[in-house]
Amino acid sequence: MKKLLVFIILILAYACSTYKGLPPLATDNGWKTKIIPPHPQQEEGNPEAGYEYLVYGNYVGSGLPYGIAKKQFGKNPKNVLNREGINASINYQATVFPAKNGLMVANGNCFTCHAGPLNGQVVLGMGNSFSDFRSNFGLFAQLAGFGMSLKYGKKSLEWEAFEDLNHYLKASGKHIKTNQPGANPAAVLAEAIVRHRNPEDLTYVEEPYYEMPKYTIATDVPPLWNVKKKNALYYTAVGRGDFTKLLFQASYLGIEDSTAARQAVENFKDVVAWMKQIEPPKYPYPIDQELAEAGQTIFEEHCSGCHGTYGENETYPNKVVSLDVVKTDPYYASYAVQAPIVEWYNKSWFATSSPRSYFEPEAGYIAPPLDGIWATAPYLHNGSVPTIEDLLNSKQRPKFWERSGRTSDYDAKKVGWNYTVKKNKKGKWTYDTTLPSYSNVGHYFGDKLTEEERKKVIEYLKTL
Ligand code: HEC
Ligand code: HEC
Repeated sequence: MKKLLVFIILILAYACSTYKGLPPLATDNGWKTKIIPPHPQQEEGNPEAGYEYLVYGNYVGSGLPYGIAKKQFGKNPKNVLNREGINASINYQATVFPAKNGLMVANGNCFTCHAGPLNGQVVLGMGNSFSDFRSNFGLFAQLAGFGMSLKYGKKSLEWEAFEDLNHYLKASGKHIKTNQPGANPAAVLAEAIVRHRNPEDLTYVEEPYYEMPKYTIATDVPPLWNVKKKNALYYTAVGRGDFTKLLFQASYLGIEDSTAARQAVENFKDVVAWMKQIEPPKYPYPIDQELAEAGQTIFEEHCSGCHGTYGENETYPNKVVSLDVVKTDPYYASYAVQAPIVEWYNKSWFATSSPRSYFEPEAGYIAPPLDGIWATAPYLHNGSVPTIEDLLNSKQRPKFWERSGRTSDYDAKKVGWNYTVKKNKKGKWTYDTTLPSYSNVGHYFGDKLTEEERKKVIEYLKTL
């Protein structure tokens, strides 16, 4: 009996320790919604230069020698960006550029996560919901450094061009392993990296400023065509102030220090200008206009208060909705309000030099603009709901759902991914809503509508 008790306690202790690092959940916030006011932005960017910089630029600073990267990212590259020169030979998700010592290196670019495959095309600015961060990057991160030192030695130009990346690969590798297909750990990646940077000059420090949580919370990837309407970035509206500095995310991985950062940020003015003029793809199938018009009236009555209006009289309120009201999975927002990166960021070069950006998380989620919403399945910040029809009828949301992984497997009727309901989480592309931070609860605003009204609203959403 005693042995059994000890056994049970050990099991419980193990179970608890597995979940250590998940935040206590925010309950009564004391507020329902908040409007985020605009912050002055630098307006003088050039969109063409911004695009050039995104696809050719050296904003990641450091990388793998071109020859090695070509083997990794260069197999049958589809030159979907129509890039010229050496970059035509590598996949669109990577860029070849000169490192600070002049050696040609390659690294991932913004389109690793911000270009989405859809119906056989790659849509720039759309979130990539087909990435899979479940494999062990920790091991790869360790092996990359070891392999590089064996092949080239630590006194080589190759090592010098790779060293910054190596630091941050080691710092982040094991923290970005997720337990869900499609989920993107970019927020955790940033957090794991900056704790090894001196906030004042961004140089590498061996000793981290804070500990990382043991459980990796990952999210969907929002489309970039919404940035032009937003006064704050990210799902929790944590990103405030100057957008050029906030957009700097991929560069955390390899940039050397704040001098290099200052140069890159200059170019990000152009990137912001590019982002502000991209538009979502148009719905490619027939739309019943009469039904859609009826849907617009219902939408404006029930949904516009949070999501704004579309068409001739465009409005967007920039409204953050408290967890108490939206009731969607609370882990990500609960974590954001206590994440140590907030303090780091607000005393760093990003917040103390002009133009200033800063972090101010909320225990809630921003109601996003719904432009091009037909194309951006799965839905909610954690990507837990496969179609708009399921989002607007919470009883219909599947607990385990499997998509084929084919990017053309689109359901024009329910609007979102085709899927099969599963009994358990088996299957490469099966989403498991029972895992912490991936539940499909909340956003019950569509439940109040009748079946007919929902049909009309869905038809209207196809037009946005
Ligand atoms: C590893 C994947 C990844 C890479 C690389 C990446 N991002 Fe992101 N990005 C994300 C994810 C995930 C989010 C959502 C995070 C959140 O909202 O909390 C995001 C959010 C954003 C947002 C905010 C959008 C909104 O509606 O609030 C912008 C803007 C953005 N990224 C731009 C960039 C740029 C520019 C680059 C390249 C310098 C880049 N990202 C590189 C994954 C990535
Ligand atoms: C009280 C404010 C509020 C109302 C009313 C509301 N929403 Fe939302 N909506 C939100 C918030 C906040 C989110 C983001 C929640 C999250 O990601 O966890 C959201 C998310 C969504 C999404 C998913 C967006 C994405 O990119 O994944 C869709 C689609 C949507 N809402 C449609 C509607 C429709 C249609 C209505 C009216 C029937 C409606 N909403 C009413 C606040 C609201």
